[in-house]
Formats: sequence, C-alpha cells, structure tokens
Amino acid sequence: MQFETLPGFREFYPEACARRNHIFGCWRSVARAFNFLEYDAPVLEPLELYIEKSGEEIVGQLFNFEDRGGRAVALRPEMTPSLARLIGAKANSLKRPVKWFNIGEHYRYERPQKGRLRAFYQLNVDILGEQGPAADAELITLLCQSLKSFGLNNSDFKIRLSDRDLWLLMLAAEGLDEAGSASVLGIIDKLERTDRTKTIERLSSILGDEAEDFLGRIEEAIAIDDFDTLRSYIKNLPLEGDLAAVANARIEEWSQLLRNLKASGVGDFIQIDLGIVRGLAYYTGFVFEAFEASGEGRALAGGGRYDALVKKLGGPDIPAVGFAMGDVTLVDLLESKSLIPKYIQSPDFIAIIGGEGERAVALADAAQLRAVGYQIEYPFKNQGFAKQFKLANQSGARFALIYGSEELERGVVKVRDLSKGSEVEIPRDQLLLQVPTLLEGGIESK
Ligand code: HAM
Repeated sequence: MQFETLPGFREFYPEACARRNHIFGCWRSVARAFNFLEYDAPVLEPLELYIEKSGEEIVGQLFNFEDRGGRAVALRPEMTPSLARLIGAKANSLKRPVKWFNIGEHYRYERPQKGRLRAFYQLNVDILGEQGPAADAELITLLCQSLKSFGLNNSDFKIRLSDRDLWLLMLAAEGLDEAGSASVLGIIDKLERTDRTKTIERLSSILGDEAEDFLGRIEEAIAIDDFDTLRSYIKNLPLEGDLAAVANARIEEWSQLLRNLKASGVGDFIQIDLGIVRGLAYYTGFVFEAFEASGEGRALAGGGRYDALVKKLGGPDIPAVGFAMGDVTLVDLLESKSLIPKYIQSPDFIAIIGGEGERAVALADAAQLRAVGYQIEYPFKNQGFAKQFKLANQSGARFALIYGSEELERGVVKVRDLSKGSEVEIPRDQLLLQVPTLLEGGIESK
C-alpha cells in the first residue's frame, strides 16, 4: 500500500527544499537588515489561545484535538497570539520597542486551493511598545523590501493600506455603536467576495431600510484612492466634539505614515484602499495587505495594528503592529516571473580512490577538509578509475583528488581541475594549505 500526504500538506524534495531555503534566506536577511531579533514558540498551543483572540474565521479552521492528558490543544494557525503571550510575560524586562521576527510553519484546515494550503510557512515581523505610525511605516517598508529582495518590483506587487480607526469614526458618524460597527466591518471584509444583494441583506439586519443607501456610502469611501480626497472626506464627516478632534489627529497620523513610506523609497508601492479591513478579530488601527499588482490572487501578506491583544491575553497594555507573509502565494508569483534561482549543489572535491589500501588515506584527508568547511565526497565502493572519472565529471565537483598507490608512495595527491582537465600534484601534508589557492584560481593548463 502506498501512503499519500494529507491534503494541503507538502513534501519537500531537495529542489523544493532549496527553494524554501532561498525564501527563508531572503526573509531572514531583510529582517536582520532592519535589526529585528529572531524568536520562536511552540507549534502546539492551548486551544483557548485562539478562541476569541483570532476571530471566527480562523477558529473555524483550527487543527484542534484533545491530547492524552485531556487538554484541548490546537496546531498554531498563526503566530500573533503566541507572540503576544511571550511579550506579555516578559514585558517589564524587554527593551522597547521590541522588534522580533519568526519564520515558521502554520496550520489551517482550509479547503486546499490555489494559494491556500493546510500547512504553510509565514514570516512574521512585529514591533511592540511603539504607539506612533513610525512603527507601522517601518513594517510596511520591511514588507516591501523583502518582496523587492526576491527581484519583484513596482509592476509586480502593491500594498493596500487601510485604517480600522478611520472606519470606526466613519461608522460612528453613521450613528453605529461599537457592536454594530464590528458587525459592519465583518461584512465589509467580505465585500469583494459577496454579491451586492447578499451584502444588502446582511446589512439590513443591522440597519434596516437604510442598508442600501448605507452600502452606497461605504462604496464611495472604498473608491477613495488618494490622500487629498481621503483628507477632505475625513474633514467632512459629521463628527462633533471629541470625535472631531480624533479625526483631525488621525489625518495627521495618515500624513506621517505616508511621509515616512515615501522617504523610505516605497511610496510607489502604496495604494490607499479602505476595502481592506482584515478578518482577524484583534486589529485596531492601520491595516494592510500585499497583493500581486494585477490585483489577482490571494494576498501575499497581511497585517496591521493590534494594540489591545497583549492586555487581552493577561499582559500589560502594550501597543503592537506587525504582519505575516506566506510562502505559498509568494512562490507562485516568483515562479510566474522566473525569479527562483536554479538549484545547484555540487561539492568542491570528489575523491577518486585506487583501492582499499588508498581508501584510509582518502578518508583521513576528507575528514580534514570537511572539518574546515570544504565539501567533499567519495565513492562508497571500490571501482575502476575510468568509471570513477566518469562519475566525477558528472558530479559537478570542481576538483578530483586522485588517490593512486603510486602517488601515495611519493606522499603526494594528484588534483585534477575537472572543468579544464589540467592536473597538479600536491604533497599531502600541504593539501590544506594549498586548497584556498586551488579554489580561487583553478589549475593552469600546461
Ligand atoms: P493572515 O492574513 O491570516 O494574517 O495571514 C498572513 C499571510 O499568510 C496571508 O497573506 C497568506 O500569504 C498566508 N496564509 C494564510 N493562510 C494561508 C493558507 N491557508 N495557505 C497559504 N498561505 C496562507 C496573520 O496570520 C496575522 N497573524 C499576521 C500578523 C502578524 N498580524 C500582526 N502580526
């Protein structure tokens, strides 16, 4: 009987693993360039961590079960609740702002489809302990830089930027209370994927006969795509007293965010799009998602502010902002643009061994070369020279180290440059010393 992988889970043959390492390598080096520290957390967590904190959509997709000790547990569907707990537990001893990143696997029981699997990797990057929009700007910049580090540019991806605080102001101006606003935001989150009649039906349960006119006003807001229009839209909201002051302060925060993004060289990637509200329950302020520039496909990344989560999980009041980028949609996009480097792994050296007597010497040299970081392999079985040379040529190795009885009697090893066919003899006790020159210059043909 042949076993298959579970739906939505992947196997990584060496080529796929190399591709994954390439993605992780770019993610890690960009996060480090911004001076973020790497952390990790368990893949299995108490179920309770996600109930309410992540929101209905994710809870409906949990891989959860009871462990042998009778605990309700879940494989992590996302990193943010674990991170909030880690930070909450050590909040007083951590230097702020906390700038941390993680690369790890996450699990969601979704219907496997293009861009969506049940096990996928995410880069999570978060800043905790900084209230102002400079932190939001830094993360959006990091998101853009990491996509750029794969060779993607302005014609390949865009960041759609929105603001849940602003939505709350707009909905307050419509006379909605907190609970009503939360329900409406849930409906707005699904607007793109739902037909209009169905949306009006949903809105009617909150707004009655007003639903259709209300949807019209929402659509007007979503159509805004430049800051000047947004600014006058906010200024014209029918708000009074404190709320009007909050709205003015929010305009200033938008302006600072956009200024920083422009100054960091990523202004061209940003599209104002209030249609983004994010499905997760904990977001509070600016929210954003990265998409292919064509607008097609599922999001490449998503994130935003979640200022209340650490406290909700029992920690102190710490503002937070972050995002996660997934590997699945990213690899699809990179493949469609031929931006995944070819996988080639070949050793520096391959040993060619005359017979059992020479094997011990070859193995001793291999041990020395490996100990200082060179890549070397040798045939496991004794074979004729001709066959070994053929295999050496196919191996992609740069040099063959030839261990024949005649050479060893003279205390030398013959080295062949496999691309040029040229050879040189090196005294065995000089081998380690001469390897750097060999690798740098190859062997001149005589
Ligand atoms: P999210 O929008 O649920 O946010 O996921 C972020 C990214 O993970 C998505 O844009 C997508 O690339 C990838 N992703 C999510 N689900 C799947 C799936 N089933 N298959 C493949 N890829 C998937 C979060 O997870 C938040 N915790 C991000 C965050 C960090 N917010 C603040 N800090």
